[in-house]
Amino acid sequence: MILLKNSKKRIAVCTLVFLCLLLTSCSGVSDGKVLYFAHSLPTSHPVHKGILEMQKILNEKSDGKLRIKVFPDGQLGSEREVLELLQIGSIAITKVSASALSNFAPEYQVTVVPYLFRDDAHLWRNLEGEVGEQLLASGSEYLLRGLCFYDAGARSFYTKEKPINSPEDLTGLKLRVQNDKMSVAMANTLGAAATPMAFSELYTALQQNVVDGAENNIPSFVTSNHFEVCKYYTFDEHTMIPDVVIIGTKFWDKLSDQEKEWLRASAKESVVKQKQFWKETIVEQMKMLKENGVQFTYPDKAPFQEKSLPVMENLMKDPKMKTIIDKINSN
Ligand code: GCU
Repeated sequence: MILLKNSKKRIAVCTLVFLCLLLTSCSGVSDGKVLYFAHSLPTSHPVHKGILEMQKILNEKSDGKLRIKVFPDGQLGSEREVLELLQIGSIAITKVSASALSNFAPEYQVTVVPYLFRDDAHLWRNLEGEVGEQLLASGSEYLLRGLCFYDAGARSFYTKEKPINSPEDLTGLKLRVQNDKMSVAMANTLGAAATPMAFSELYTALQQNVVDGAENNIPSFVTSNHFEVCKYYTFDEHTMIPDVVIIGTKFWDKLSDQEKEWLRASAKESVVKQKQFWKETIVEQMKMLKENGVQFTYPDKAPFQEKSLPVMENLMKDPKMKTIIDKINSN
């Protein structure tokens, strides 16, 4: 399918998708229900591979009675647009960054706090424990029910002109961040000029010097081809923002208990493979990046951590956020 840059075209396609969905999922004459799953990442991305795993498990569990059809690459819109389509019931499922979700369900803001998660083990202990369950459930109030978290590693800065060795090197740089207030606060507090924009617009923005750099995990840096334009990648690892699989409650509420169980279980079970795809992909991609002249920097993270502390302090002024952050810190 063609990439839809123009929102009129997108609306037309979404209407079409909605009509097809009505025909396939509600007619009662077809052999099973099909739920549409839209997301913004390319098919070579390990998160897309995790989604295909979920698709496979669901097919097996339900014996084809409940299936998902995947629309990758932002074909049906940006993360924000697709979340809105979920809310109105035009699309059933999506996978977005928890950062995009935090604009809808504010509790997810805690996942965007710099240096909150100490390492992989600390991240997953929380995401697969009480805090994670609380976050996934928190979206229902906004018609966006969470099914599982996917590994999206750690996000680090990458730049066009010079390596970043310390926060001082970020001063004044125009850096693309995700479009949510925590990401904007993170970059600004570190001294950069935060430039929020959709992921799909970034390649051109980098090429045309609209921004001097961006920040992301290795698989997204690679599969978006940003490494062709940015030759400096700095492992400052300021955030570990997970990806989240979300189903709109408009669809969820219409499923039978059995169908809900198939979906819940296939999402959760797919996480094991998704994490494995992630690890394997990084090893291959690091090698490829080196061969393509990308220079890695491993700075002392302490000054980044210290300088970005006000972002967490500010969020903790909200007692609800403070409770979750305290829970994560002490876990
Ligand atoms: C990650 C994340 C995406 C998100 C992207 C971004 O790649 O997995 O869901 O769109 O970051 O920076 O926008």
